[in-house]
Amino acid sequence: MWYYEKRLEYPINITTSNAKLAQFIASQYGGPDGEISASMRYLSQRFSMKDRKVAGLLTDIGTEELAHLEMVSTIIHQLTKGLSMEEIEKSGLGPYYIDHTVGVWPQAAGGIPFNACEFQVKGDPVTDLHEDLAAEQKARSTYDNILRVVNNTPEVADPIRFLRAREVVHFQRFGEALRNVQEGLDAKNFYAFSPGFDAPVTCPPNAK
Ligand SMILES: [Fe+2]
Repeated sequence: MWYYEKRLEYPINITTSNAKLAQFIASQYGGPDGEISASMRYLSQRFSMKDRKVAGLLTDIGTEELAHLEMVSTIIHQLTKGLSMEEIEKSGLGPYYIDHTVGVWPQAAGGIPFNACEFQVKGDPVTDLHEDLAAEQKARSTYDNILRVVNNTPEVADPIRFLRAREVVHFQRFGEALRNVQEGLDAKNFYAFSPGFDAPVTCPPNAK
């Protein structure tokens, strides 16, 4: 169950529209390493995460990713508010405009619509946590790419920097979670069984 708090995790007040930047930043809404992908990944993976502390971490980070989704959508909305037809056509936003006007719809910067194959739930905690670590790095790289094009626009760059910093924190937390899960496994072979599916086998004391 969730409660909605009617405020953004970090304030966004963009005063000048910019169709080009909106197209780039849209990738962090519905692109392969964007916030829909992140939130759905963690909020789905938590069910097969038997370590309850790590399952709680997935719920917490998945919930925060929903707040990031809201921030990215707000940035896109504010960047496309009040655009003229001329700006829409010149910036290359035309094809998007035909299908969605200036509504917020999940697609990558290159125009590919969001689909669930952009994240994975393998049901194996070790596998899933490795995906989560990679996902956080991919999101951080994407924010770095975005920052290179918005650096001269502080009202856009500030919230993007906040989002990037959170990806780094999530990466750290998932690293700790992976260590915790692996500590409960056979140190010589983490992959001897899946802690999310197989029952741990303990040898009887006199077994040869
Ligand atoms: Fe994240």
